[in-house]
Amino acid sequence: MKTFSQDPTAQDFVQNPYDFYDHTRQAGPIFFWSDYQMPCVTGYSEVDALLRDRRVGRERPTEFQTPYPEHIETFIAFERRSMLELEPPAHTRLRGLVVRAFTSRRIASMEGEITTLTNQLIDAFPDQPFDLLAAFAEQIPVIIIARLLGVPDEMAAQLLRWSHDMVAMYQANRTRQTEDAAVAATDAFSAYMRGYVDERRKSPSDDLITTLIAAEEDGSKLSNEELIATSILLLNAGHEATVHAIGNGVRLLLTSDISACELTRPDRIDTTIEEILRFDPPLHMFTRIAYEDMDLFGHPIKRGTEIGLLLAAANRDPAKFKTPNQFRPSRSDQAHTSFGAGVHFCIGAPLARLEMKTALPILFARHPDLKLAGRAEFADRYHFHGLKSLMVKL
Ligand code: HEM
Repeated sequence: MKTFSQDPTAQDFVQNPYDFYDHTRQAGPIFFWSDYQMPCVTGYSEVDALLRDRRVGRERPTEFQTPYPEHIETFIAFERRSMLELEPPAHTRLRGLVVRAFTSRRIASMEGEITTLTNQLIDAFPDQPFDLLAAFAEQIPVIIIARLLGVPDEMAAQLLRWSHDMVAMYQANRTRQTEDAAVAATDAFSAYMRGYVDERRKSPSDDLITTLIAAEEDGSKLSNEELIATSILLLNAGHEATVHAIGNGVRLLLTSDISACELTRPDRIDTTIEEILRFDPPLHMFTRIAYEDMDLFGHPIKRGTEIGLLLAAANRDPAKFKTPNQFRPSRSDQAHTSFGAGVHFCIGAPLARLEMKTALPILFARHPDLKLAGRAEFADRYHFHGLKSLMVKL
């Protein structure tokens, strides 16, 4: 397997990781990324196959669990209750209970709220150039997921802070300060949700938390600790990626040859969104652990090896897509790996799509002349491929 090195925190890489992906493709669909000390897969069919392959998974077998410092115990305990870090049968039970509450009917019922919220945010746009990420892209997903769960809107800013501190644990340049902040956020977020779950037990409402409390499968319910971890997972996953999918999407639409108004017309919005998600997704890498010695596309891999699945590289694979490095919303080959596949396929995909599909057409219908006011740069973190800010003028 050919080795490539690339600092994931380097500025030019963070601004455009796609050149590096293309460079590694000369070695085939898999390469060894020395900075991560990990084999990484870039081919579309190979990434898709591994996402569905039960010989690999997210949960680390006990003998491969790496020691962690005592001061991050709270965060690790939270992670171990998260469905994203579990495999069947524990994963099947948790996911089944959540899917029962997170129904397509409940998601679809949020459309009116997303429309109203989008209009309210646009009403509040200033006349001066402003950051659309903070004023728009960040607001919609966090407020909508909070409302779905039943958490009051006033908590949105606090949820954003806790969530940012927790997901910073996945960034490449994590420090002791990052870890302390993540543990403090996990403690505070859990304490808040514990109180909130208790309240909902006493006075049920029609929100997702109440449904999660009642959800039962094969006589099994979520324990209190599982409920808290699941609510936090949904609140965090429910906005972090969508914020950047909207931000990256607006940036693409404002720099495309075809006008944003045209691309967000009702008959084109669905294909535009899928192309945004294919072309510049917010999450580039998820990992798996090999559960047995295996042959990985011609390369021997030992049980316990961690493998990087580069979703965003797979989306630019020329073996799958014609002119993969062009943003072409009219393309017929629209499949992508941005929501994963297999047992961990994103539970929130319908909600993320609904938010984008509702918010973007309203934005461009109300402000057809929206323009970038300066260069939109990506933030210096690889775990979320998203912009630092998105300065625009009306
Ligand atoms: C554009 C926005 C989003 C993107 C690109 C995205 C992407 C992903 C991906 C790639 C995975 C699979 C990870 C893996 O296989 O290791 C995933 C899982 C997950 N996502 Fe999303 N997501 C988005 C929005 C959301 C939203 C809005 C929610 C919640 C409301 C959500 C909740 C989840 C959950 C709970 C999982 C774990 C599922 C499991 O382990 O079974 N996501 N997401």
